[in-house]
Amino acid sequence: EDITAKRKDAHLDLCATGDVEPTGNSTLLECVRLVHCAMPEMAVEDVDLTTTFLGKRLRYPLLVTGMTGGTERAGAVNRDLALVAERHGLAFGVGSQRAMAEDASRTASYAVRQVAPTVALLGNIGLYQAVRLGVDGSRRLMDAIGADGLALHLNAGQELTQPEGDRDFRDGYRVVEALVRAFGDRLLVKETGCGIGPDVARRLVDLGVRNIDVSGLGGTSWVRVEQLRASGVQAELGAEFSAWGIPTAAAIATVRRSVGAEVRLVASGGIRTGLEVAKVLALGADLAGMALPLFRAQQTGGVEGAEAALGVILAGLRQALVLTGSRSCAELRQRPRVVTGELKDWLAAL
Ligand code: FNR
Repeated sequence: EDITAKRKDAHLDLCATGDVEPTGNSTLLECVRLVHCAMPEMAVEDVDLTTTFLGKRLRYPLLVTGMTGGTERAGAVNRDLALVAERHGLAFGVGSQRAMAEDASRTASYAVRQVAPTVALLGNIGLYQAVRLGVDGSRRLMDAIGADGLALHLNAGQELTQPEGDRDFRDGYRVVEALVRAFGDRLLVKETGCGIGPDVARRLVDLGVRNIDVSGLGGTSWVRVEQLRASGVQAELGAEFSAWGIPTAAAIATVRRSVGAEVRLVASGGIRTGLEVAKVLALGADLAGMALPLFRAQQTGGVEGAEAALGVILAGLRQALVLTGSRSCAELRQRPRVVTGELKDWLAAL
């Protein structure tokens, strides 16, 4: 009964201290240079990055992407990070609600509304878990925590590395179609570190999906996490595939090219600094998402630690806007930028 919850705590341990960001993997954001403006003609306080997401107003275009739930420890992570998101006007997602679907007594570990009454809140469920739950079961998970939307996560790479993982990935679009009919623009489809490319994004949008988090390669690798838990063949396959995926910079730039401006795009996967947030916004993201850095800051320093880490990121983001002479995300996108190296190859191929 406790298998899902136990796995969750093992995942948290590995993510807190393990080598879950393989060296050599890259977002390719180092191939993007924003161009310095020596005469910004603005004050830092002129930077206005307010936006809307899931019908709510955000002060910053940032999402704490879904991580956890199901255990005491996971509950503390959710409450601490949701509180930080509420205070600073970011969006927040809980992790996979599978554990609470299996045992309703775990609902409390996902319940953040007491500390984050107005935050733009995303529930979370895996694509093939949603098959088992159906539309009504998925809606109950959202409603039980007062979520504004539901994140549907895709993780074929992780599943194939997990000994007990799924092996059958048929009928995915059919599941998405049913969910989008029920949830409309409350549904977000996300990857978990291997990236959503332009072809998949286009098909999702054709089905009616209006929010996509590309969650590309370059940050937390779930293939690596499962490799660290596995042995034998599965561990070997994990090692072989921990650099598999579409780098975040390539994913966001090509997906933006392939879908209309009405589609809300989140860029996540390896975003670690305010300057990197600015770069993904310039490449066409509406929001940037982060998981591991805020989780680690919370683990070592609680709410204060997470706020300190976020403070540096927000300062870097504002600085990047000032130094490109941009008051807003719209202005930032009009500024020149230089794209070099491997990212150019990806942009040419996709
Ligand atoms: C995750 N991620 C994740 N995603 C999801 O959709 N459901 C989940 O339950 C989890 N669980 C989870 C736990 C922990 C501890 C981490 C660090 C991450 C994936 C996450 O939302 C994100 O897509 C990737 O981690 C890439 O972002 P970062 O970590 O590189 O910023």
